Amino acid sequence: MCGIIGILGKGDVSNALLDGLRRLEYRGYDSTGIATLVNSRIERRRAKGKISNLEVLLQKEPLSGSTGIGHTRWATHGRPSENNAHPHATDKVAVVHNGIIENFQELRDELSKQGHVFTTETDTETVAHLLTHLLAQGKTPEQAMAITMSRLQGAFSLAIMFADRSDLMAGARRGSPLAVGYGDGEMFLGSDAMALAPYTNRICYLEEDDWALLTRDGATIYNGDKRVNREVRQTALSGALIGKGNYRHFMMKEIAEQPTVIGDTLQAFVNPLARRIELPKLPVDLARLSRLTIVACGTAYLAGYVAKYWLEKIARLPVEIDVASEFRYRAAPLDADGATLVISQSGETADTLAALRYAKAQGHKILAVLNVPESTIGRESDLVLHTLAGPEIGVASTKAFTTQLVVLAALAIATARARGAIDAKREAELSAALLEVPARAAEVLNHDETLKAIALKVAEARDVLFLGRGASYPIAMEGALKLKEISYIHAEGYAAGEMKHGPIALIDETVPVIVVAPSDDLFEKTASNLQEVRARGGRVIFFSDADGIRRLGAEAMAAVELPKVDPFVAPILYAIPVQLLAYHAAVAKGTDVDQPRNLAKSVTVE
Ligand code: AGP
Repeated sequence: MCGIIGILGKGDVSNALLDGLRRLEYRGYDSTGIATLVNSRIERRRAKGKISNLEVLLQKEPLSGSTGIGHTRWATHGRPSENNAHPHATDKVAVVHNGIIENFQELRDELSKQGHVFTTETDTETVAHLLTHLLAQGKTPEQAMAITMSRLQGAFSLAIMFADRSDLMAGARRGSPLAVGYGDGEMFLGSDAMALAPYTNRICYLEEDDWALLTRDGATIYNGDKRVNREVRQTALSGALIGKGNYRHFMMKEIAEQPTVIGDTLQAFVNPLARRIELPKLPVDLARLSRLTIVACGTAYLAGYVAKYWLEKIARLPVEIDVASEFRYRAAPLDADGATLVISQSGETADTLAALRYAKAQGHKILAVLNVPESTIGRESDLVLHTLAGPEIGVASTKAFTTQLVVLAALAIATARARGAIDAKREAELSAALLEVPARAAEVLNHDETLKAIALKVAEARDVLFLGRGASYPIAMEGALKLKEISYIHAEGYAAGEMKHGPIALIDETVPVIVVAPSDDLFEKTASNLQEVRARGGRVIFFSDADGIRRLGAEAMAAVELPKVDPFVAPILYAIPVQLLAYHAAVAKGTDVDQPRNLAKSVTVE
């Protein structure tokens, strides 16, 4: 997703703008640029590709000026190019934008008739011309902003500067987050608090339809044409730029952090002495819930899918699950005495946020499992269960996924207890199994070399199948998602029992089949599916424990033995080998592992 930064500074701001953009790189982008005011003139430097290209340009043609805006662009309207890179500007107004202006063509046509000449294919340029037009009619920046907000349709966040006003900057937020940073004689705008962390930890998040006028003394915030007050919070984010340590990629660093962050997250929800789950006070009575609706996207959705198996099996709670992009439009009737659970690493995913708002409008209380509690979804939920994964920079979600599973496992146990489906003894057993996961996860990481060797074979394939049953089925889907999103190899995760209903036609010696099968109560069923694959020349890669490997390992082209754990926590553990397999396949293919093509870390547009 695009990244925005704006600075009303004390001195030249171009280096600080660049630094802010580097902190937004993780969101995914394909071009970048900055603009500053130099003697009341808007000066821009823009480049296709990585921020390093912009740095080279700025070394050749530096920019001075203490008022500036910057942007990392993830293309929506208009292909990635220097000309389409933000900031977009007229001689009077410069704009950077995240989101989509849905009525841009109508506005563009109207403004063209009034003599405005457009030079890009973007929706953003329309905003610059609309503001310029209003200023030319004698409107003040404040009046021009109010009118512009009433004319624009769609989801967007904006940072705007005015050629004649080096003391002023405007920001706006509708459906896409924007933070106002309060400095000492300086003011900031940013897509998130991380971008502003080196400059200030005093942050105010604009709310839906807010827009703000900043001077170096502070901000005046409006909603529509009314002035409003918004809370200025102290963020905990450190200013240190998150580095890769001694890892080649953020993704590998974050895979390796999992034993630690799983442990940190467990400490927040499991009492290790009493072997009991301790959740914060929930806004719903788990004992009386008729149904839980779980909604999320991508990997977060697959974490929710695992939770469905857990909640239905041990807590006897009916669960409906759907991807947010479908759920928000199918007008699902929701149980009056149900509740909705949303899961999101970023807390900014537009579809998940819209699904939350739909459920809330139906009278549901909203529980959220989030890695960024200061996010929009966090602010609109009734309770946040926080995954303590720390900032996740790699676009492919890894440690956020396993810590989501930890929180969801704790919720499942607590729900089972509240509904009398398990007794204190079983709660203690399941809690103990959870408490073992960090150590077992560290053991799984020791298979990295084995998985790297297997990945070299997988990297040659055009199609890959992942199979699993029960709670291993979402892990098979997660393995397929990981592989396809970073190595660009087509992969599908399938319920093992479904193979004979079609996909088995795909099987031949060119299609690796990864079978995720701890030796649980479904193992024998999966074993027969594995034999069906082998009987057709399929090459099986088998993830199981010692018992499973003893039983079927000889049938596989390769087998990875994972520690024997309570089947309840197996999905958390089995997520790690599929992450490593995808990672090494992507490295072998030479793709951009941390920022795969076309992808963004936080999808804040529909
Ligand atoms: C996962 O590896 C992907 N990057 C993607 O599917 C992601 O899980 C999805 O976009 C949801 O993001 P969120 O957790 O921030 O809501």
